[in-house]
Amino acid sequence: MKKLSSCFTTLALCSSLFSGFLHASECDPGERVVKFSHVTGGTTHPKVILINEFAANVNREMNGRLCVEVYPNSTLFGDSKELEALLLGDVQLLAPSIAKFGAFTDKYAVFDLPFLFKDLDQIIRFTKTPEAKDLLHVMEDSAGFVGLGYWMSGMKYFTANKPLLVPSDAKGLKIRVQSSTIAKGMIRAMGASPQVIAFSEVYGALQTGVVDGQENTWSNIYTQKFYEVQDSVTETNHQVLAYLFVTSADFLNSLSDEDRTQFLDLVDRATQSANKLVKEKDAVNRENILRAGGKINTLTPEQRAEWVNTMAPIWKEFEGSIGKDLIETAAGA
Ligand code: LMR
Repeated sequence: MKKLSSCFTTLALCSSLFSGFLHASECDPGERVVKFSHVTGGTTHPKVILINEFAANVNREMNGRLCVEVYPNSTLFGDSKELEALLLGDVQLLAPSIAKFGAFTDKYAVFDLPFLFKDLDQIIRFTKTPEAKDLLHVMEDSAGFVGLGYWMSGMKYFTANKPLLVPSDAKGLKIRVQSSTIAKGMIRAMGASPQVIAFSEVYGALQTGVVDGQENTWSNIYTQKFYEVQDSVTETNHQVLAYLFVTSADFLNSLSDEDRTQFLDLVDRATQSANKLVKEKDAVNRENILRAGGKINTLTPEQRAEWVNTMAPIWKEFEGSIGKDLIETAAGA
């Protein structure tokens, strides 16, 4: 079991725990090690908090059987490698942005359509529909990935080295995106050039001018300090950043029936906690940005309408592959 109590006696371990590193302690002999890798960091990010809480719960309640080791901040696998590592069995748990599964299914693009979800409550309601629950299993036969639940990071906003009040302000800029076809389409619709860059490299790319801007949540903009190397954040609310808490069928099938039941119960508790926690953390991180000297541009209704209109054609492009019914379920959630 994780010896969290050592945190109070060992300064180094303590500080690593508070920066999101929970793997500094050791699993006991005989415990099955379960590696949980992710790319986020800091202490106020909802994903960091949830993963650490989930690991602590498993390690306490399944003590002697399972031992979750957490690797934050791309320290074990970054964006480009983590899904491959899950396929290979080098890691058992991940929670990547759902936009990063485009190579495995077209269906998750529903989570990514610009201006489909107006707030976090709507997407959380959508994740509780039978249609969204079915989608947890959409990659099971093809890739052996099993979705365990949907977590949120927050709504997304654009940042750049100049204020972006309307989409055309981004004309000619290079904007970092995740590996998502929809995101690339959005950036092109703004007259800018999309650049796919791994999350761990975004700060450096913004700092050195490899890219001029990016789009992300308050939690990522704050904990990665993007506000330090950008002129301002524009409160576009154009998309959600949803995570898929995911494992492999191989891992789940390798557990005894009793362990699997208990593990899945802990998984569900983590998702319930995720739904409760995210809005509070989102708001805290927005405040943190302002307190740290970051600038936030709010939009007039006219400016906002320009963003919505610029991105509207993307829906048509993806309607066929996502399915009109699924989009309607999400829109009506
Ligand atoms: C990003 O790549 O911008 C995000 O998906 C990172 C994350 O996991 O929040």
